Amino acid sequence: MQKSQTESRKKDHVELVIAKGAQYTKTTGLERMDFIHNALPEISLDSVDLSCKFLGREMHYPVLITGMTGGYDDAEGINRSLAQAAQKYGLAFGVGSQRAMIENPGLAKTYRVRDVAPDIPIIANIGAFQLKKYSFAQIDSLVSSIEADALAVHLNPLQEVIQAEGDTDFSGVLDAISRTCGKLSVPVIAKETGAGMSQDVAIRLKGAGVKWLDIAGAGGTSWSKVEYLRADSAEGFEDWGIATAESIIQCRGVLPLIASGGIRSGIDGAKTIALGADICGAAYPFIRSLREHTLDAYVEKFLKQMRICAFLCGCKGIKELKMAKMAFR
Ligand SMILES: Cc1cc2nc3c(=O)[nH]c(=O)nc-3n(C[C@H](O)[C@H](O)[C@H](O)COP(=O)(O)O)c2cc1C
Repeated sequence: MQKSQTESRKKDHVELVIAKGAQYTKTTGLERMDFIHNALPEISLDSVDLSCKFLGREMHYPVLITGMTGGYDDAEGINRSLAQAAQKYGLAFGVGSQRAMIENPGLAKTYRVRDVAPDIPIIANIGAFQLKKYSFAQIDSLVSSIEADALAVHLNPLQEVIQAEGDTDFSGVLDAISRTCGKLSVPVIAKETGAGMSQDVAIRLKGAGVKWLDIAGAGGTSWSKVEYLRADSAEGFEDWGIATAESIIQCRGVLPLIASGGIRSGIDGAKTIALGADICGAAYPFIRSLREHTLDAYVEKFLKQMRICAFLCGCKGIKELKMAKMAFR
């Protein structure tokens, strides 16, 4: 059978990001902040416990592998390997946009990972634009068919406007989100895809009934760069977006936060928690290390870095890490 445009685009995205990087030149802003070192931590490294609860499930670390893929043959193996790693280390896992399985229900299996990740939070994914287009029953089935604990609705106006075949009518999106939040049996997470969220957007999403935000700020994967690699289009938006640190500061206190976008180490991750996030997340480094056969080593280093940050700030757990002080460089 001929591949749909959605299927081949999802494959292009993964392959282009892995081959070319397509990362922002602009940084997350986290590199300008340092934890205040505690020369008298008065705890042992072994006592550091960063476990937490997310979407009603226990996690060993407040870390999410954010949604990337699904909807074409190879995506099944990618999703299963990433979900297996998340289960092994007690993290959360999100699938990529499930639009392809609405268009072709036979592709549902490329998103199903519950059998290899029975205990962790799993997050379904659809574009906000698609919420306008599809029935509630179709959206509901995205969650139930993969036994997800939440639905991430992605907001990606930057990517769509640069993408040659992108959807550029974002009017009515907030209403569609609100209708979905009112009916869905699991919480809705609104997520950006790397250009960040402002306080005003966070407040409007809260008003629509959204329960969590993934601010996905600028400083990591640049979706305008990815789309420039696929086709010629309006240049100049390579570095458009709100840097991750700024976006956390804008949105903290409005809703519980997942902080992603350019998080590349456990030190970055720990800084996002101290800045006001509840969970940190990343996409690119996980898929790249999976492809390089270094996924376990990468995850172990990331988690060890988070624990060391907590130790060096004298923090035994997440509650204390949230209170850790940082200073500008
Ligand atoms: C290969 C790839 C595919 C992605 N596909 C999706 C997607 O389908 N849905 C979505 O919400 N976000 C998608 N994202 C965005 C990520 O979830 C994340 O928000 C963004 O890449 C910023 O994080 P990073 O800098 O750690 O990559 C994708 C990211 C990558 C790298």
